[in-house]
Formats: sequence, C-alpha cells, structure tokens
Amino acid sequence: MEQSNYVEAVIESGIYWLTLNRIEARNALDSNMLDEIERAFGEAEKNQDVKVIVVQGAGGKSFAAGADIKQLNAKKPLEALVPGMQGLYRRVENCNKVTIAAVDGYALGGGCELALACDIRMATNHAKFGLPELNLGIIPGAGGTQRLSRVIGKGRALDMILTGKIIDGEEAERIGLVTYYVQREKLKDKIDEVSGHILKKGPIAIQLAKHAVNKGYDLDIETALWIEKLSQAVAFGTDDKQEGTAAFIEKRQAEFQNK
Ligand code: CAA
Repeated sequence: MEQSNYVEAVIESGIYWLTLNRIEARNALDSNMLDEIERAFGEAEKNQDVKVIVVQGAGGKSFAAGADIKQLNAKKPLEALVPGMQGLYRRVENCNKVTIAAVDGYALGGGCELALACDIRMATNHAKFGLPELNLGIIPGAGGTQRLSRVIGKGRALDMILTGKIIDGEEAERIGLVTYYVQREKLKDKIDEVSGHILKKGPIAIQLAKHAVNKGYDLDIETALWIEKLSQAVAFGTDDKQEGTAAFIEKRQAEFQNK
C-alpha cells in the first residue's frame, strides 16, 4: 500500500485517538486515507487495552470534507461496486470497540457518513454537517441514504440530502444527528467524560450491547429480541457478570477482566 501518513493514531488510557490529518484538503478522504483508516481500526480492535476509538479531524477547520473529489472525477461505474468507503464504514459500525466521532469543523459527504457509522457523535460550535453529493451529480454512497434516515428520520434526511443544506452543530443536536453539542474548548472534556463512563464497563458487555442494538435495529422485533436474549445468555456466562453483580452487592467498583 502507498503510504500517505494522513491518519495519526495515539493510544492513551484505553482511548485510541484516530486523527484524520490532510489539512490542506480539509481532510478529504482519498483512497490512501481510507486504507489507513481501515488499518488503524484493525490495530485498535486487536488491542485489548483499547475500549474507545475517537475519530477526529486535524486542523480545526474540518472533520472530513468527504470523498476526494479529484479521485471521484476519474471513477468509472464499476468502481462504485467495490466495497470502498461504504464497506469501510460498515466495518467501522461493526467494530468491537465503542466509536466516538468528535466533529469540529466540516463533516460533509463521506465525512458526515463516517460520523454516522460511529456509535456516538459530538459536535462543537464550529461543526458543519451536510450531504452535498447531489451538487456533484452523485448520491451519498457510503451509507448516507440509509443511516441518516435511521438516525434523524426519513423526512429530515430527505431534506438534507435533496437540498444539500449544511447545518451547524446546534441544529445537529436539535434534530438528533449528534448526541452532544459543546463549545470547541470543551470538546476534550466531553470526550473524557463520556469515555470515562465507557472505560468502567466490561468489554464483553460493551460488545454484546452494541451489536444487539445495531443488528436488532433493522430486524423484526421477535428476531431482534431473540438476539438480545441470546446476547444476555452469553453475558450471564462471563466472569465479568459475576464480578459486576458481586461488586454491586459488596458496594465497591467492579474490576472487569474481559472474561
Ligand atoms: N475532495 C478533494 N479536495 C477537497 C475536498 C474534497 N472533498 N474538499 C476540499 N478540498 C480541497 C479544495 O480543493 C482546496 O484545495 P486547493 O487549495 O488545492 O484548491 C482545499 O481543499 C481547501 O478547500 P476550500 O478552498 O474549498 O476551503 P473552504 O474552507 O473555503 O471550504 C469546504 C471548505 C466547505 C469543505 C469546501 O472545500 C467543500 O465544499 N468541499 C467539498 C465538500 C463535498 O462536496 N463533499 C462531498 C464529497 S463526495 C462524497 O463524499 C461521496 C460519498 O458519498 C462518499
């Protein structure tokens, strides 16, 4: 793979900080960056110490300005059929760690779609969200037509997609596109606060809960509830369940062992 070093990774106290760093192109996602993001997720997933992956953009102006439009310009129809960005974001969604998109600046097109594939979204007062693909004569192709409507509802999703309008962080919170809206200088505190809650949980329960929500979401309720039941049966068999329940009874903090 050609190296571009547009993705930086730092591991700190259970958090994998993944920073998109192609400032001169507003962190637009070219094919090298997508490969690097995939590799970073692989590394984070294998690391037992990591419980949370925070995705952020460098430079203060942009989370990610979408797919690289210069590369898009050269693409032929069959190139849209490969897993590509859509496949990568599926992998992000299915990742066994908790993912947080920390959006400060533009999250447009594939940038917004990357945030949509994460579990928790945060926005600052500098955040801007939009799916402007129709301006380019294409459609959102990395999950945007499906995940946006699941997150904010079909009417609002169609409005955003068909008009290509750009909304700010406050509006994003109002319509449920993000869960947390903070001033830029408070973003790190908010990430620490939310991650702090997650870091105290057992990794097995985290995975089971996340997958039960994600997999069950598009299923009929009977099947989805059965997935929940089976997931709980797995949780009941873990040492972590014994530890968590014992810690409550003994009035102490649980120490989960991922077993
Ligand atoms: N691809 C390639 N280059 C990009 C880019 C992108 N998506 N976004 C920005 N850049 C480049 C610009 O070409 C420019 O490069 P030069 O300095 O070489 O001219 C540089 O980044 C700075 O951009 P601007 O001068 O436009 O910066 P700005 O601050 O005035 O505006 C912006 C920032 C609003 C993000 C604007 O650049 C913009 O609208 N970008 C395109 C956003 C977009 O349409 N995204 C959707 C892409 S399609 C997609 O993502 C498909 C999909 O579903 C997967």
